[in-house]
Amino acid sequence: MDYLSDTLGIDAIWISPFYPSPMADFGYDVSDYRDVHPMFGDLSTFDRLVARAHDADLKLIIDFVPNHSSDQHPWFIESRSSRENPRRDWYVWRDAKADGSPPNNWLSVFGGSAWELDDRTGQYYLHSFLKEQPDLNWRHPAVKAAMFDNVRFWLDRNVDGLRVDAAHYVMKDPAERDNPPNLDRSLQGHKSLGAYDSQVHVHDKGHADVHQVFRELRALLNEYESPRMALGEIHIYDWNELAAYYGEDLDGLSMPTNFGLLKAPWTAAGVRGVVDGLEAAIPQGAWPNYVLGNHDDQRLATRLGEQESRQAAVLLLTLRGSPTLYYGDELGMREVGIPPGRQQDPWALTVPSRGRDGCRTPMQWSPDSAAGFTLASEPWLPVGSDHAVRNTQSQLLDPDSHLNLYRRLLALRRGSAALRTGSYLPVDSVPPDCFVFERSLGTERVLVAVSFSAEPLSSDVPGLTGRIAVSTERANEDNEVDGTLHLLPHEAVVVVEIPSDVEPKGEE
Ligand code: NOJ
Repeated sequence: MDYLSDTLGIDAIWISPFYPSPMADFGYDVSDYRDVHPMFGDLSTFDRLVARAHDADLKLIIDFVPNHSSDQHPWFIESRSSRENPRRDWYVWRDAKADGSPPNNWLSVFGGSAWELDDRTGQYYLHSFLKEQPDLNWRHPAVKAAMFDNVRFWLDRNVDGLRVDAAHYVMKDPAERDNPPNLDRSLQGHKSLGAYDSQVHVHDKGHADVHQVFRELRALLNEYESPRMALGEIHIYDWNELAAYYGEDLDGLSMPTNFGLLKAPWTAAGVRGVVDGLEAAIPQGAWPNYVLGNHDDQRLATRLGEQESRQAAVLLLTLRGSPTLYYGDELGMREVGIPPGRQQDPWALTVPSRGRDGCRTPMQWSPDSAAGFTLASEPWLPVGSDHAVRNTQSQLLDPDSHLNLYRRLLALRRGSAALRTGSYLPVDSVPPDCFVFERSLGTERVLVAVSFSAEPLSSDVPGLTGRIAVSTERANEDNEVDGTLHLLPHEAVVVVEIPSDVEPKGEE
């Protein structure tokens, strides 16, 4: 907690699922929505966690998994027991087609059909993810009420918000029509999901009825006196469609997650395209957010490269919106190669290129064995082989480290109202390899310039004046800028105006 709040300087923690679970998908298969898996402690451990976070001035956001439960959840055990069971309709059970095949062509994200035939009752049930994760039927009022009660349970324990897992999956086409074939594979948000990409997923998720669910969820959050929020995990890359999740009157999700920067080509035009596209689409008063890494995607520094991951840090922490930072990305942690036999992620077995273990390895705290993460002789997943150099302890001592860049950026953001809540305005007349934008609030103006070029860059940018407060090249920090931009290859700088009562540098 002290590391997160004081050393790093963040404001909130999102903790992935800790509920009782058979761990078929590492907690995203919940068998009890109101308890803690014994391996992590119990409810009193959780209460201590909330209290400790709040003591450290950190908000706590928990993962809420509404689309599916575990197949070991008592609701599903009852539901599958007979066609007449009162909880039968809490899940989605359908007859086979006349030839015995699944009710429609929907596919599971994790591979194969989204329908599993259950011999006991001779019907198929729907599972958008693993067959151990049956989809709940959110069109059933009792399911919605029971799930909202589960949300209340945690809000009453003082959590500050929810990260809503697979949020757009909760409402499907009520007619359950087949998805059309995907003739233009580039349309898909995810990359290389294998056969899943063979369809356009228009009917198996994201039905417009989903917005009513989130309106009701937001109303529930608003019942509490202290502010509570909901961040929805939504993989949609059509900005107007994504913007709809804020709700017509900003009465939907507090924020739908914006994964645009994870998928965009890492060029000035690619990155600016995401930012401008989102900014133009979201309603007045809506608050954006940006993601560069998470537990489902390849590590940022591996995906983009060392220098690029530093400029990505500058972008993440200076764009208008809430930045979400994945543990270890502040160290530039790399994707770790998982030797055969040590893979844990079920997705690795169906679509090997999608295995997610490599980004889920132990946090690298120190150069010690197991990176100071555990005293166990062999951690659950292997420790990155670079932990001797890439760890918090060593990086804190190195002013040029990734970690110290993040710390300087977070401190600057904390002290700058323009960066925290100011407007965003892109600057047009800049070289094509450059993305420059202004954040301002009242009289405070901050300019951010990011070079995507492998060559040094010089260009006149009228109005770009001030002092470099943070740069990916620390030697350039404190330099003054006066209408001309000089950037080293892949450098990103944050320029703040020099207060008028301060003497220009170099003049006594
Ligand atoms: C998205 C989560 O981020 C991922 O880890 C999980 O496997 C799926 N949803 C299914 O719950």
